[in-house]
Amino acid sequence: MEKTLVLVKPDAVQRGLIGEVISRLERRGLQLAAAKFMQVSLALAEKHYGIHKGKPFYEPLLEYITSSPVMAMAWEGRNAVAAVRQTMGATNPTEAAPGTVRHDFGLEIGRNLTHASDSPENGEKEVALWFNKEELVEWDRAIDPWVFE
Ligand code: RTP
Ligand code: MG
Repeated sequence: MEKTLVLVKPDAVQRGLIGEVISRLERRGLQLAAAKFMQVSLALAEKHYGIHKGKPFYEPLLEYITSSPVMAMAWEGRNAVAAVRQTMGATNPTEAAPGTVRHDFGLEIGRNLTHASDSPENGEKEVALWFNKEELVEWDRAIDPWVFE
């Protein structure tokens, strides 16, 4: 099943929005596969955001993601990557559609509340970077026939 990494970033944790984000993903029908509340090390931040190295927002981004704990999660489901990105909204909160997390709770790109993998391939890679095998829980969900055709 397709997996995606979701981070409830430090701003959303500080603002008490962990439950709000989880609730939206749960209600959507996505399935939780792993979760941990953690302080992100600089080393992990650099690996995770390696693709942005050299961009003007790279250093502030590392500072942001390591500034306070995050809630890291793996979610799965058919088309989980696209579905979760849709739920989060556009990167810049003032361009995010109403009803998305970033629109409903954010104003600035540098405080945009969440991370979500941008492709199934990166979903696999990022989940493997943030979680070891034992932390990933495989479980059968009784409501699946009521979510998936
Ligand atoms: P994410 O990776 O966090 O899910 O966000 P994304 O795919 O929508 O955006 P991406 O281009 O991957 O950028 C990663 C994060 O870097 C910060 N950013 N700041 N100041 C800026 O121009 C700028 N651009 C990006 C945001 O926190 C963004 O989520
Ligand atoms: Mg991204």
